[in-house]
Amino acid sequence: MIALDDVSKCYPNGAYALRDLDLRIETGEFAFLVGSSGAGKSTLIRLLVRDELPTTGRVRVDGADVAKLKGSAVSKLRQRVGVVFQDFKLLPQRTVAENVEFALLVTGHTGRKEAEAAEHALSLVGLAHRRHHFPRELSGGEQQRTAIARALVSHPRLVIADEPTGNLDPVTSWEIIKLLVRVNELGTTLVIATHNADIVNALRRRVIHLDHGRIVRDEREGQYAA
Ligand SMILES: Nc1ncnc2c1ncn2[C@@H]1O[C@H](COP(=O)(O)OP(=O)(O)O)[C@@H](O)[C@H]1O
Ligand SMILES: [Mg+2]
Repeated sequence: MIALDDVSKCYPNGAYALRDLDLRIETGEFAFLVGSSGAGKSTLIRLLVRDELPTTGRVRVDGADVAKLKGSAVSKLRQRVGVVFQDFKLLPQRTVAENVEFALLVTGHTGRKEAEAAEHALSLVGLAHRRHHFPRELSGGEQQRTAIARALVSHPRLVIADEPTGNLDPVTSWEIIKLLVRVNELGTTLVIATHNADIVNALRRRVIHLDHGRIVRDEREGQYAA
């Protein structure tokens, strides 16, 4: 699902965020990305959704070399890859249902098909009853569940979450992680960047540890710290 070959990323200011990265993540895997702030986790995620291009090396996602995608192929990649962020990134002036439908927007307007898909994604995360609410009327956990519904609505093969529990209390964090575990059990490949040691240590999944842009540890049933 994910293949990085000798990938480096140097930002225009000269900062190297990733160095000589080789990484394979197979279809159906569940992997945690850990490492201190500045280690390169978010940069790696940006390369996977083509928000940034690698400076050197090759990034392949679901069979496609992201650097070679043009125009509509980029939008297609973004529909096959759902992304969830720490700060939810919901549109404040749009309802929960609209936020989810908008992820399917291609032609400039949404219709009945999109509404039904959004409804389905919202029931999956247990939020169908909130569909007409605005983000500010929801708790943090509900906002994150809306963002997860938005990530799932296009039936992605891969879901990537960048510190999805960073703004949530411990109980709500667990609810969100349990939801993501279920998404993975339904067959979606999952990559989660996190600082939540309790969750990583409890789940014992693959742990990929970044430090100063390099992979320093990659364990099958890993823990947060070595
Ligand atoms: N847009 C950017 N421009 C310049 N440097 C950046 C940019 N984004 C991140 N960096 C730098 O790249 C390194 C990795 O950052 P980041 O990928 O955000 O790490 P993490 O998500 O693990 O905290 C840091 O040194 C950071 O300062
Ligand atoms: Mg980050």
